[in-house]
Amino acid sequence: MTGNRTFTMIKPDAVEKGYIGAILQKITAAGFKIVAMKYTQLSQRDAETFYAIHKERPFFGELVEFMTRGPIVAAVLEKDNAVEDFRALIGATNPADAAEGTIRKLYASSVAENAVHGSDSDENAGIESNFHFAGREIF
Ligand code: CMP
Repeated sequence: MTGNRTFTMIKPDAVEKGYIGAILQKITAAGFKIVAMKYTQLSQRDAETFYAIHKERPFFGELVEFMTRGPIVAAVLEKDNAVEDFRALIGATNPADAAEGTIRKLYASSVAENAVHGSDSDENAGIESNFHFAGREIF
């Protein structure tokens, strides 16, 4: 059985360009309910911890620098089949490969600055939500 919650971030590139409202509109229009949300900025340590799984990748330094350079919006979303449906809504990691109408096709500029994050599994949705909303008892 698949879970009904996922975790997202609207990344610094999309916040800088003024896309918060448009992206939240796409998310809610697709049937996701916002269970928790905050506007915040990641510290270097936050970004290194959140993306620890990528620490051996050649782009890790660039990723941490990007994700800490400005504010983000972090949110927990609820819908049946949330993880899979949200990944379909945002599109491929590289916007050049993303389907028409997806959030990354519309609002992302590159594989690095790809506008939004979406959890890749129910397990990671729980870990990532707890990272940002510890103590809120949403999971
Ligand atoms: P996301 O899938 O949300 O989480 C991992 C992030 O690493 C990814 O989004 C991109 O922001 C970034 N990333 C993935 N591949 C590359 C790459 N080849 N070069 C730079 N950044 C990348």
